[in-house]
Amino acid sequence: MNIKNIKSFIEFYKFLGITDCISPVQRNKMKFKVDPKKNIKKMKESKKTEKIIESKLASINNLRSLIINLDCSLKDVATNLVLYDGNYDANIMFIGEAPGANEDIDGKPFVGEAGKLLDKMLSFINLSRNNIYITNMVFWRPPGNRTPNETEISVCLPYTKKHIKIIKPKLLVFVGSIAAKNLLNSKEGITKIRGKKHIYQDKDNDLKIEARAIFHPAYLMRNPIEKKTMWDDLLEIDEFINSNNILQDE
Ligand code: URA
Repeated sequence: MNIKNIKSFIEFYKFLGITDCISPVQRNKMKFKVDPKKNIKKMKESKKTEKIIESKLASINNLRSLIINLDCSLKDVATNLVLYDGNYDANIMFIGEAPGANEDIDGKPFVGEAGKLLDKMLSFINLSRNNIYITNMVFWRPPGNRTPNETEISVCLPYTKKHIKIIKPKLLVFVGSIAAKNLLNSKEGITKIRGKKHIYQDKDNDLKIEARAIFHPAYLMRNPIEKKTMWDDLLEIDEFINSNNILQDE
């Protein structure tokens, strides 16, 4: 193993939080008290949440029917429309670039090798498809997995903005430079955009949402040494999620 790899492994264990040895503790020591008023409040809140979820689902289905009718040339060569995966009631929304071959077959984003790497990295900070929502900038696979061109992106962009409006997350994470540049209106590359705090703004819909940009997992597969940078970015995201109680809020 070379020096670079050893360093990356040390960072990896540090990232996992392995700094201490855990000793056995006595279980079942806590006493729980049931507060009936709290339970009623919780039931009311869950009814409200159910309604919000129903209306989000209806809006997503409506969005799907608008997208199906889009005039986008990619549609003619793709097998499936790839709209989303994950929890549509989540407070965290990830946006990637475009579906690849596996996504085209399954009709779900990030299910191929890059998606598996993303899932693995997200699991380090307790994120999974149960507590995030994930989509792409472009809804069909570009032939041969090429980068979507400007026309394809601009046809899909208004629908991605509608998508964000429906999910209304508390944190947006742009995966790779296509999503970061187009949604932050920036000309800079991902190397400059990542590692900074951003605000996604949609003036037409009066939306301002906290945003971060990370390297695309496909880039990390080609440049594994950059995983260290990715860990730094994920740690910052984790810190933001915890200090704003974003997961507890769901
Ligand atoms: N890369 C992406 O950006 N999105 C996917 O869904 C798969 C690979």
